[in-house]
Amino acid sequence: MRFAGIFAVLPLAEIESYDVPWVPTRRQLILHIMRLARITRDDVFYDLGCGDGRVVIEAAKLGARAVCVEIRRDLIEKAKENARQANVYDRITFINDSFFQVDLRDATVVYMYLLTRVNAALRPKLEKELQPGTRVITLDFEIPRWKPVHVEKHYVAGLLRTLYLYVVGVSNSLVNL
Ligand SMILES: C[S@@+](CC[C@H](N)C(=O)[O-])C[C@H]1O[C@@H](n2cnc3c(N)ncnc32)[C@H](O)[C@@H]1O
Repeated sequence: MRFAGIFAVLPLAEIESYDVPWVPTRRQLILHIMRLARITRDDVFYDLGCGDGRVVIEAAKLGARAVCVEIRRDLIEKAKENARQANVYDRITFINDSFFQVDLRDATVVYMYLLTRVNAALRPKLEKELQPGTRVITLDFEIPRWKPVHVEKHYVAGLLRTLYLYVVGVSNSLVNL
């Protein structure tokens, strides 16, 4: 009964989002993500569910300020350790919380390797908080009702992987025409 009570007060999307497992992005794909994102020193790069920090670390190495949002404490600690080893710790903000709770308004690039249903749950937040022109890149799972401006496929370790690039103000208005 007590559990039923807790579940009754939490939004369904948040409960389900905890089910996204940690599956790290392959190094080979991170190179493509950085190229697609066109990272500059002016960028603020968010990875929503940043795992061991490997993607934000590459963005920071390219000069961006980065934000690593991760719900698992063990992974955020690992991400900090990895950032220290890569000498980019000072360029990254580490947030041990749910991405549903984090203000995204200063992002210029957002990366998400999540699930389609979690992307769908995040979409209203992305539409509310991201500035026009913000690039959003997802791996393998689309943002429902947004239209990517670019899609590319890569074989990595024998598997076909898909990267979707969205631009806020373009991707979310095209589908409403
Ligand atoms: C598929 S992994 C991707 C990890 C990392 N972005 C990468 O590409 O290597 C998804 C990550 O999201 C985290 N996660 C799941 N739900 C979350 C939530 N609500 N808020 C923050 N992180 C979450 C998981 O713990 C996991 O590390």
